[in-house]
Amino acid sequence: MTRVRFLKWDGCLAAEAEAPAGTRLLELAQRLGLPLEGTCEGAMACSTCHVIVAPADFPRLGPLSPHEEDMLDFTPHVAPTSRLSCQVILEADLEALEVRLPPGHADMRGL
Ligand code: FES
Repeated sequence: MTRVRFLKWDGCLAAEAEAPAGTRLLELAQRLGLPLEGTCEGAMACSTCHVIVAPADFPRLGPLSPHEEDMLDFTPHVAPTSRLSCQVILEADLEALEVRLPPGHADMRGL
């Protein structure tokens, strides 16, 4: 299981949950009602699933594909540790993960 903490842009906690290995980060965020649209459903065509990974956790997620890097080039509020959450699969050896939600998403929970 991986314990995932989702932070709002201002650093306050938005949600926290555990998920089994193999869970896609975007699916977990959506299950928690967080404002990540995932409009293209993982086809890497929208970047509405963008999150910023905590610097300490970023290297443990493995490398980005060239296509993911290209999509992030056109994503607002991108940071050196940005990822598309539809491309992040929680691996069995990943005990904890912290990500921040970028500003400007449609707010479905009043976050
Ligand atoms: Fe569209 Fe991730 S859901 S790029």
